Formats: sequence, structure tokens, C-alpha cells
Amino acid sequence: MAQKNRLGWAVYLAGALLIVVLVFFLVELFSFNQGSSGIEPVSSGAYRDRVDALLAIADPANAEAAIQRYGCPACHRAGAENGIAPSWEGIAERAAERRPPMPADAYLYESIIHPEAYLVEGYPNSMVPNFGSRVSDQELGDIIAYLLTPDAR
Ligand code: HEC
Repeated sequence: MAQKNRLGWAVYLAGALLIVVLVFFLVELFSFNQGSSGIEPVSSGAYRDRVDALLAIADPANAEAAIQRYGCPACHRAGAENGIAPSWEGIAERAAERRPPMPADAYLYESIIHPEAYLVEGYPNSMVPNFGSRVSDQELGDIIAYLLTPDAR
């Protein structure tokens, strides 16, 4: 009898776990869909107004604080090809050539806000998908401005 009860609880527990996993899955799916909306077609004018507004208030000298706050170096390690994420060394030049005719600043914006829109060859879609709802406009502008300088590492 006691045995049977224990089995009953195990079934209950498994059912409860299944529901929890399902809820997580749905939440994840929903936030992913939110992340992918707003992707603009590749063109020379993509994201133009938004990026201009961000860069108008940006100061690359302040980017380091934001970069640390959001943990970018956990994947983007200074100067190293580590197989986890591409290095930022020389990124300003590469950014201009990633998605022609999209200019470098618009590409950098898209890479951070919609990382799934374009994947750098050899890397998975593992970049954090929700920076768009976490990083402030000031921080985002500072980071893009910094990545556009030859100092980016
Ligand atoms: C969990 C690991 C991870 C974190 C954290 C991360 N990234 Fe990335 N990032 C990647 C990967 C992997 C790629 C390459 C795949 C792709 O294109 O999305 C990438 C690509 C990029 C690119 C395009 C690089 C290129 O050479 O074209 C930029 C720009 C970028 N990330 C900026 C950032 C910024 C800014 C932060 C912090 C706010 C950040 N990333 C945090 C993993 C990460």
C-alpha cells in the first residue's frame, strides 16, 4: 500500500515537472519571437534613424562600463579567437563588409539587438537574444561608438 502511494507521488511529480518545462518552453518561444520582430531588410538605410539617434548621444569612452555590466567579454575575449565568439579586434572594418550595402554602424546595431539576423561564419546563434530590452539607449550608443573605433578589442 505504501509502495503504491509512493508511485502515485512519483507520477504527480513527473506531471508537475512536465508542466514547468512546458511553461518555460512557451515563455522562451514568446521572448524569442519578440526578439526577431523588428529585423529590417538589408539595405544602405536599414536602422538608419534609430542608429543616428543612438550615436548622437554616444560617448565611446563610457562603453567599457556597459560592456562589463552586460558580460560581453564572457564570450568576446580581448584579442583572442576563442571559438566562443568573434574577437572585436578590427571589427569596425569587418562590420562594413558583413552585410553590404549595410553600413558598419547599422550592422553593429543589428548584431547586438537582433543577433539571429546574421550569424558570423563558424559561430552558433548563441549570443544573448534580449539585449534589446535590457541595454539602455545610452549604453547601446556608447558600445556601438566604441566598436566603430580602432581601439575595439
Ligand atoms: C553568450 C556569448 C555572447 C555574449 C555574452 C555576447 N555575445 Fe556577441 N556574439 C556571440 C556570438 C557567438 C557571435 C557570433 C554569432 C553571431 O553573429 O551572432 C556574436 C557576435 C557579435 C557581434 C558581431 C561580430 C562580428 O564580427 O560581426 C557583435 C558586434 C557582438 N556580438 C556584440 C556583443 C555585445 C556588445 C555584447 C554585450 C552587450 C555581446 N556581443 C555579448 C556571443 C556572445
